Amino acid sequence: MLSLSSSCLFFLFALLKATVWAADYSNPLKASDAGDPNIVYQDGWYYLMATGSPPPVLQMTRARTLDGLKTGEVRDVWRDSTPERCCNLWAPEMHLVDGRWHIYYAAGPENDAGVQRSHVLQGGTSLWDDFFYLGQIRDDYSVDGTLLTANGQNYYVYSCRPNNVQSLCIAPRTGPATTGDSKVISTPTEEWESRNSPLNEGPYALYHEGNTWLSFSAGTCDSPTYSLGLLKYNGGDPMEKASWSKTGPVFSSANGNYGTGHNSFFTSPDGTETWNVWHSVTNSSGGCGSSRSASAKIVNWNEDGSPNLGQAPPLGEVLQGPSGEPDQ
Ligand SMILES: *[C@@H]1O[C@H](CO)[C@@H](O)[C@H](O)[C@H]1NC(C)=O
Repeated sequence: MLSLSSSCLFFLFALLKATVWAADYSNPLKASDAGDPNIVYQDGWYYLMATGSPPPVLQMTRARTLDGLKTGEVRDVWRDSTPERCCNLWAPEMHLVDGRWHIYYAAGPENDAGVQRSHVLQGGTSLWDDFFYLGQIRDDYSVDGTLLTANGQNYYVYSCRPNNVQSLCIAPRTGPATTGDSKVISTPTEEWESRNSPLNEGPYALYHEGNTWLSFSAGTCDSPTYSLGLLKYNGGDPMEKASWSKTGPVFSSANGNYGTGHNSFFTSPDGTETWNVWHSVTNSSGGCGSSRSASAKIVNWNEDGSPNLGQAPPLGEVLQGPSGEPDQ
């Protein structure tokens, strides 16, 4: 009897663990100074970076679970006294290039956010290694830079300002810090991209079952209409606007989260799930400053293979975390 009931219990426990193999979490993951959030999972750790507020420093938080990021270890990764790139450190993104981690970010001089340029730091094989300045990537206005692989080629996609309208540009990536001539692949042409002010920014690549998209943010972050759109790659030359089709908004203010935008995607610890992380504010007028918090939610997939980002859940709602987190 004893051995039967204990093996029954063991079986039940194993079943529970197999079906609920994730720690719970709730949003926000970072309550303030969390604009333009980027999360990466590597070797047992989640790493979070975001746009902070002055003093200008790039910080990284790490934790074993998604929920643990709220109280994770925080580390200063980068400060720079070089006047032309000291300040306005925006939108850091962590990318593995040729086996080493790199942080792509925008920066400029102290009192002028109109001359932002993109830069890259190089680290080691772990995100907790030290980072060193590798170089400036572009000579034109360039913020929110990200990496894209499409049609077997590597690209750098960023927010540019052709004709003074903030748009999305693409350039071939020839090395971790070098790019070729750029072209515009998206300008804010649709009504939902221009509700507050016409603007495209914050691109991030999404790959699933052979399909490729770029998510991006439309409108301005100081508005509740700031929202996400998608550019789907339809084949052909990724540098041509005609190779991409736009839909949106696919994710906008909901459940007390306003100005839900500048997202990125990350993969669950076991590699089976895609997760969306974005910033929002609780002020119904929207906001761009330090009041931005970072939140995350699993991405579901529609029958036609396209991503379904759903809605931002209410802050504080307890949800199941990414698949494969250690049972704690
Ligand atoms: C919300 O944002 C508006 C516009 O920036 C501002 O005037 C107002 O003070 C903010 N409200 C709160 C409670 O912070």
